[in-house]
Amino acid sequence: MASQSDSNKGVQGGAALWHGRFAQAPAQELMEFTQSLSFDRQLWPFDIIGSLAHVHMLGVTGVLSSGDAATISEALIVVRSEFETDEFVFLDTDEDIHTAIERRVTQLCGDVGGKLHTARSRNDQVVTALRLWCKHNVAQLTQRTLGLVDTLVLRAQQAGWDQDGIYLPGYTHLQRAQPILLAHHLGAHAWSLLRDVERLQQTLERLDVSPLGAGALAGSSLPIDPVLSAAQMGFAKVFANSLDAVSDRDFVAEILFDIALLGTHLSRMGEEWVLWTTEEFGFAQLDDSFATGSSMLPQKKNADIAELARGKTGRLVGNLTAVLVVLKGLPLAYNRDLQEDKEPLFDSMNQVSLALSALTGMIASATFNPDVMAQAADAEALAATDLAEWLVRQGMPFRQAHAVIGELVRVSNDTGASLKSAAAAHPSLGAEAAKLVGAGVGVRQRKSPGAAGPAAAWAQQQLLRQEIDRLRNISA
Ligand code: ARG
Repeated sequence: MASQSDSNKGVQGGAALWHGRFAQAPAQELMEFTQSLSFDRQLWPFDIIGSLAHVHMLGVTGVLSSGDAATISEALIVVRSEFETDEFVFLDTDEDIHTAIERRVTQLCGDVGGKLHTARSRNDQVVTALRLWCKHNVAQLTQRTLGLVDTLVLRAQQAGWDQDGIYLPGYTHLQRAQPILLAHHLGAHAWSLLRDVERLQQTLERLDVSPLGAGALAGSSLPIDPVLSAAQMGFAKVFANSLDAVSDRDFVAEILFDIALLGTHLSRMGEEWVLWTTEEFGFAQLDDSFATGSSMLPQKKNADIAELARGKTGRLVGNLTAVLVVLKGLPLAYNRDLQEDKEPLFDSMNQVSLALSALTGMIASATFNPDVMAQAADAEALAATDLAEWLVRQGMPFRQAHAVIGELVRVSNDTGASLKSAAAAHPSLGAEAAKLVGAGVGVRQRKSPGAAGPAAAWAQQQLLRQEIDRLRNISA
């Protein structure tokens, strides 16, 4: 970049794409403020795919001679190899990745390069490249999310879905509620992630529309064929309205929502791991390679991955908000504001991908403490609902049974007497009912469809595996 003192002389070293209309070169301040090259260079593979498809279409439709189309295509392929080998040289005058590539093509093939942009605007070019980027990256994100699901399912299987499975207290209001299988708890997170995968796949299907050929806003007077270029790029559909094609960023907002919700799920999971690995809970330990220490406190072993999975969600939600606010006041069609779609999108995609990988490794390598979990879940009070339901089976209305057992719990809390012996001595309960209070008994009572005990687990496992296979087949 030219130095500040040169600013009023404008940018040196090349002409802006639109130079014909202007007597002065663009000012330094303008370039610094309006450039997007610093963040859109990662679009290069997709810009080249778009340009190759466009040139191919121009050649087939006769808008360009086949010789010119071939010359430009060859230059584009040279440019691609320059990027691949990290030899591509950017200039100060390159405003964004799209102008940089067109500039280089023209350097390579001379005046013919000036025909690349025939019947095309950066407005349709930019959004074409961005949709291609999304198709690639959303597909990868679904795979990565399925990777975490696989890890949860594997850990669930190791924890056991059967009678001997590891169990822990299930919580409501973060107060111990009823014993549940650890596999069931891990499975719950798997289900939420599977909905994220499905949501991303639906977003992917909706965004699979080529906008190329919409031009600046209204199409072209030249005999172009947008269907042909769309097919060339592998898009499933083609735009029907040129104004909509260049101004629609619904797909960006949708992906950002999908990621914000996925991040919210990771955040909730992270919060539990922070709790589980405290000395107070003691339900799990992290592998050293997935834990962090303190710079001052030698004894510390911290769950920073889990905390950051929680913390990063702030910016994922912020990125969604940023794009919605950019979009909300825009008149049709393209406005430069739309350039602000990229940084939030790239940031969210990057951060959620990192979070998924780190959490996957953390969960895969952690150790559970079944004895600590069982001890917490075997607390007598967690059998209270089963005692009430025993009374229901004897014909007592549930509300009355609830009151009877509530009083039993209160008295046992006040006197320190065991709930089991209090139940055995109670006139409405007795020895048979008291058997419901005991180590490992409660989890086996959770047997209704979809419930947290081993009796219902087989059906859930089947459904879980079916859903994973179904979504993996769509993603493949
Ligand atoms: N870098 C810009 C973007 O990402 C390119 C579009 C510029 N178009 C224009 N008409 N100035 O949106």
